[in-house]
Amino acid sequence: MTFETDNIAAMDGYVSGEQPNDPNTTKLNTNENPYPPTPEIGKVIAGFDVDRLRRYPPPDADGFRDTAAALHQIDRNNIIVTRGGDELLRLMITTFVDPGQPIGVTEPTYSLYPVLARIQNCPITSVPLQQDWKPPENFTRRLNDAGVKVTFLVNPHAPTGVLLDPSQIADIASELNGVLLLDEAYVDFIDPAKRYDSMPLIRDFDNIVILRTLSKGYSLAGLRFGYGVGAEQLILPMLRKTRDSYNIDWLSQDVATAALQEQSYAKDTWSKVRRERVKLAGDLTRLGFSVIPSETNFLLATVPLTLTAQALYLKLKKQGILVRYFEHQGLDDKLRITVGTQPQNSLLVAAIADQLP
Ligand SMILES: Cc1ncc(COP(=O)(O)O)c(C=O)c1O
Repeated sequence: MTFETDNIAAMDGYVSGEQPNDPNTTKLNTNENPYPPTPEIGKVIAGFDVDRLRRYPPPDADGFRDTAAALHQIDRNNIIVTRGGDELLRLMITTFVDPGQPIGVTEPTYSLYPVLARIQNCPITSVPLQQDWKPPENFTRRLNDAGVKVTFLVNPHAPTGVLLDPSQIADIASELNGVLLLDEAYVDFIDPAKRYDSMPLIRDFDNIVILRTLSKGYSLAGLRFGYGVGAEQLILPMLRKTRDSYNIDWLSQDVATAALQEQSYAKDTWSKVRRERVKLAGDLTRLGFSVIPSETNFLLATVPLTLTAQALYLKLKKQGILVRYFEHQGLDDKLRITVGTQPQNSLLVAAIADQLP
């Protein structure tokens, strides 16, 4: 006897990356920032007046919204604050897709999207990426033909790290009949020389919502804090109707605001990650891996033929080094490796070298 709906009973939940208890694990499997968050956060938490917790927090997190609005040079009304980027993804479906209506994704993509679609009982229209891991020319036609209401597009792409430029995104948004959720979870790690800036798109298009998170760039995965940016008419229904009231607690609002204000600290961690990314990609290439050029804090690397990716993943795991292996067609000869600190990356490279003939 189950009380679940038929749809929920029939589905599998999201399987998150392993979160080991052993603090000595070299954890390169869930794309966390390897550097700590700004020391300002310690001060905010130590100075937090616990008596404030008697009262409900600011419902719209306006203090944070104003800080983010100043950073992106947009209006507070273009921003909604959410419990991690994941809550925004769920709100996009609740707000813009009826049960039974299709949701568009690329193949491969962030594996949470199909799970959220399934919760709402929505079919998925999945369009395979080209060999260069970019959407094919007929991407939007296929989505429109299927009647897709919301499309989830991650840029830079996960799990490959490949970047589309804003003009390619503008083309996609202008052709789509539905709403485009542009998931920029890893945007902070893009090489500044590329001058990537998608924010102007929210002024030009009334069907784009951009996802941002503090989990990666600001080293705050444990806080659960993200936000969405878009035209006011897209943000407002989520803000006023579908999100939980008081979805963000007082302490999180204070911590996240402090983190966003400390731009120079965060930028320093991003540039260290980029330096390590180049070095790690070079080391893996020398070991015979084929590494996709990445604009994120991870690398998707094809394992040399002398070993299967699964075998290497298991051997590394035995030595306390966790990377991500996907048992998924097209990815099962590869490992997704989070860029760690210099000592972590050296340890990984030495452990891999030991396994190769
Ligand atoms: C592509 C992508 N989007 C969104 C998220 C959501 O991040 P969070 O809920 O931690 O903000 C993640 C987390 O790993 C991700 O990889």
